[in-house]
Amino acid sequence: MGNNAKVILDCDPGHDDAISIILAASNVSNLEIEAITTVAGNVEVEKNTVNALKVCDIVGLKDVPVAQGAAKPLYRQAEIAEEIHGETGLDGPKLPDEPKKKAVDQHAFDLIINKIMLSNDDITLVPTGPLTNIAMAMIREPKIIPKIKEIVLMGGGTFGNWTPAAEFNIYADAEAAKIVFESGAPITMFGLDVTHQALATQETVTKFAEIGNDVSDFVVELLKYFIHTYKEFFDFDGGPIHDACTVAYLINPDIFDVKKLRVDIETKGEFSYGMTCVDTHGVTNRQANVNFAYQLDQKKFWSLFEDALSSYS
Ligand code: BDR
Ligand code: CA
Repeated sequence: MGNNAKVILDCDPGHDDAISIILAASNVSNLEIEAITTVAGNVEVEKNTVNALKVCDIVGLKDVPVAQGAAKPLYRQAEIAEEIHGETGLDGPKLPDEPKKKAVDQHAFDLIINKIMLSNDDITLVPTGPLTNIAMAMIREPKIIPKIKEIVLMGGGTFGNWTPAAEFNIYADAEAAKIVFESGAPITMFGLDVTHQALATQETVTKFAEIGNDVSDFVVELLKYFIHTYKEFFDFDGGPIHDACTVAYLINPDIFDVKKLRVDIETKGEFSYGMTCVDTHGVTNRQANVNFAYQLDQKKFWSLFEDALSSYS
């Protein structure tokens, strides 16, 4: 195991975003976290930024810059998911009122542009919220596009969770998603088809509780809340930790089965706004633009988490 990719985590924490950061910062990961950027999504961007900073405090990410990004989608009103993540965006665990760490005084898209322009084309973007910041960075400085090593994102799927057709992250800013999916940058996509397989259950909570350090206890509280809201809202018997699939893949790609295919974003449909049109049978004859993750190895996935959380002891 061990991909020493440089990553920028672009997120809206969010229970599963937080777990994704925790996995990336653990000792089983060789990822170099270049920055964490926040975007309006699960809750307002200001709250997501505070949450990202608090998670950094918990895992000891002192030197990683956190930059706040877009407060609303490119063209639409913001859509939030308080039903799932609570009023703070990270309801459940007891957290200090204020983070110790402060955000940097730079907009997320400027930080993304600067980091990529100064890089040796070795930065992977890991968006786990709406794609507004990434699209804005591409619009402001298109020269970043060929310099992006890869975009490993959570979003979309062959079915929806926010509407029958659309997944939340894509629905929240489909115009931004369209720009990113049509950019030509290499994309690996973790949609609902695979992230619903990353279902944390009561059994997961019991296992993680046995680890017994501060970080695993924090994850246990996150999961208890997330499992509860997924029962209420979707009648699921667990909470899918969607966003963490991205980082798990970067740490150990063997956990997932992927295939190359064409994915286009619907921005006009009356019932299908935000749909990712996944050409599973190659009927469009359009060039594949996505590495589509569709299968997860349960044993490898959850043992990676146990190792990651234990590494905080
Ligand atoms: C996505 O939406 C958010 O609520 C989660 O954090 C995840 O990124 C799942 O549809
Ligand atoms: Ca998210």
